[in-house]
Amino acid sequence: MSARVIDGRALAAEVRERVAEGVREFAAARDGDLPGLATVVVGEDAASQVYVAGKRKQTEEVGMRSIHQQLGSATPQDELLDLIGSLNGDETVDGILVQLPLPGQIDQDAVIAAIDPAKDVDGLTATNAGLLAQGRPGLVPCTPRGVLELLRHAGAELEGAEAVVLGRSILVGRPLASLLLGENATVTVCHSCTRDLAAVCSRADVLVAAVGSPRVVTADMVKPGASVIDVGINRTEDGLVGDVDFDAVAEVAGAITPVPGGVGPMTIAMLLSNTLRAASDRPR
Ligand code: GUN
Repeated sequence: MSARVIDGRALAAEVRERVAEGVREFAAARDGDLPGLATVVVGEDAASQVYVAGKRKQTEEVGMRSIHQQLGSATPQDELLDLIGSLNGDETVDGILVQLPLPGQIDQDAVIAAIDPAKDVDGLTATNAGLLAQGRPGLVPCTPRGVLELLRHAGAELEGAEAVVLGRSILVGRPLASLLLGENATVTVCHSCTRDLAAVCSRADVLVAAVGSPRVVTADMVKPGASVIDVGINRTEDGLVGDVDFDAVAEVAGAITPVPGGVGPMTIAMLLSNTLRAASDRPR
């Protein structure tokens, strides 16, 4: 293997330590008051249960309060909107995370729109997404923030770099494109209609895969020395694999994130960081 493997677990631990220190300072300045993160899960999706359990555990480990609401899979949309309304008005809640995907009877856009942008620690509301698109300060989605931190940690030169993002979701691809543009990279976003994906990818100095298809990025698509970030978490017969064919791509890339142990831990660390930020910015 020639590539340096970027250790997302170690970097996430550093971020959590900084957040924990920030939480101690927050509490000291506010008579012991602590930032609070509300998580909401609708239904029993197994992956969502695992992800949110991890988020709650780490919220408490950095000294913040975790408030959790588990709703049944048949919950009507109005009930979820009412819950979000009460969390918006709850003084003890600084951040609200509604885990996606939601069951089919619920309109995801309506749910996101109901979240107070000041408590939108996922950075998904039109307000925060619009601020990011305009290059202005706001709450930034957790996974793209984590990707940028991993690239910085790997020493990737972003200014003037060709950055290629695979995937255009509101959780990852679109906000990441805005963040990379903010770093003065030349950004290309690829999707299911992209012609000659391999040719576009092979120009990339920075290649980020966020499509949710196992091992679609193969070694022939990667420029020698490129920094490759794998956002994918795919459950296959071989276990958890990313969107990148790790073993083969690691022979070509300069730096690469593993799955698991790359982007995943950073997503949660950035959620904690966003929650502390939302709590610090909110008048109390
Ligand atoms: N589902 C998968 N990743 C995420 C995330 O970062 N936030 C939310 N709300 N749902 C998700």
